[in-house]
Amino acid sequence: MTADMLANVSTAKLSRQESKRILKLARAGLWTRVFPAGSMERPRLLVGRERQAAKLNALMDELLGRVEGRGGGTLGVVLYGPRGVGKTVLLDTLAEFAEGSALVVRGTGNSLASVSSLIQFVLGKISPAPETTRSSRGKLALGGTGIEGGVETKTLGGRPQAGSVEDAMIALVGDSGGGMPKPTLMTFDEAHVSDPLALGALLNAVQLLNGKGWPVAVTLAGTPDVLDVLRGAKATWFLDRGASRRLIPVGNLTDRECALAISEPLHCAGVQFDLDELDEAAKWCRGSPYFSQALGLSALVSAYEEGGGERRADFREGGPVGTRFQEAALNRYVQAWADIDDKGLTGCARQLGALWRWSQADPNREIDSYQVDQAVQSGLRTPPINVEAQHSPREAKRHFRHLGLLWSPSGSRSGPWEVGVPSFFDYVESIYQSETAFGYHRTLEALNADLAGFIPRESSSGEERGRPASS
Ligand SMILES: Nc1ncnc2c1ncn2[C@@H]1O[C@H](COP(=O)(O)OP(=O)(O)O)[C@@H](O)[C@H]1O
Ligand SMILES: [Mg+2]
Repeated sequence: MTADMLANVSTAKLSRQESKRILKLARAGLWTRVFPAGSMERPRLLVGRERQAAKLNALMDELLGRVEGRGGGTLGVVLYGPRGVGKTVLLDTLAEFAEGSALVVRGTGNSLASVSSLIQFVLGKISPAPETTRSSRGKLALGGTGIEGGVETKTLGGRPQAGSVEDAMIALVGDSGGGMPKPTLMTFDEAHVSDPLALGALLNAVQLLNGKGWPVAVTLAGTPDVLDVLRGAKATWFLDRGASRRLIPVGNLTDRECALAISEPLHCAGVQFDLDELDEAAKWCRGSPYFSQALGLSALVSAYEEGGGERRADFREGGPVGTRFQEAALNRYVQAWADIDDKGLTGCARQLGALWRWSQADPNREIDSYQVDQAVQSGLRTPPINVEAQHSPREAKRHFRHLGLLWSPSGSRSGPWEVGVPSFFDYVESIYQSETAFGYHRTLEALNADLAGFIPRESSSGEERGRPASS
């Protein structure tokens, strides 16, 4: 039997039991639990993640020794993508699934803030020893040196201290009292904030243990710049060898998948709506899983608060659900805007947005690195009024990756590129087009003049160039 982490997760239909629960939650007014937009809870339907699940299942098969003549190579994967795309949900689903058959050790990028914090983190995860070894552990805590799982450990400031990450990892994985090393799955969310040295030490330790045939795997999740951190780590083999297995891009959903994530829980909650209208409205999400939950939530609240006795959600353009959703979305955009505005990078975002709309107009269009570089440089040349751009083009590009607003699903540094949270770039455009909003429109002429430098001429006319700034 092979691993199937989605076996107990609703991906297309909700069970009867789950349906009943949803109705109860909705009646009790616990609407954010039906559509947990951005909260810790898993979405009721985890839609559209078959490709990612297949790679995670393959990892588990290898970890649990279910693969004949394992291909070799170090056990580890990296989930990367924009913010709000569902990386944490996938990591948590995997961890929950793995709990039945492996020791699951959950950390974050903060656990990887430095080599010493990594060592402390790993040692802190070693389970209390059985009776026979407890005394030696007690001694450890008091000071001096001891031998644990064949590893010499020392104490520093009263805490156990292994000499290296490798020692700590050996102690963790081999910590079953002399028996076989136990399958161990380590997960690190928000791994893009890791220190490259610590991350490199971790991956090299895993490589060493795997080399001895010990079952330990690492799963990292982070915004697209997690790949930059990995390239900075002294473990570039992690990206170079077996990259197709190891790289797991997590991107947007299709409109259809967004609609499904919304319609099923709404049905269960006893909400009436027109399916065609929902299909149209689902496009407002622009494929973002976060926004699918936000739209579902808007519909649910609207139906319960304003839908009268019949609990109807009106998804029509300009209707109550849309209005509510726009408000929720605006909060999200304002945050993202703040992340780039004080650094003088909104001009870059405006140009990237124009590039994105150009690419979306034809499925054969891809955004290459040259275009991204030109768009970023153009934005830096023409920063918003009264703001000094503080970044070099390289730093600016990295910042967009760090914010999850720019990424290359292939994981390659040369693209092709996509923007994360596409609807945010629509918001940026609306601010730039508005003549009442702080004067950003005054830079439009210069920005528009640059578009020809990175958007092919024959297709850079009309709406794709944005309306020219009128006076
Ligand atoms: N496959 C999915 N189907 C439906 N909703 C999803 C899916 N993945 C994520 N979500 C929802 O999107 C939001 C963001 O997910 P999260 O895992 O926190 O994103 P990330 O960690 O990438 O920032 C959450 O509200 C979550 O419930
Ligand atoms: Mg997350």
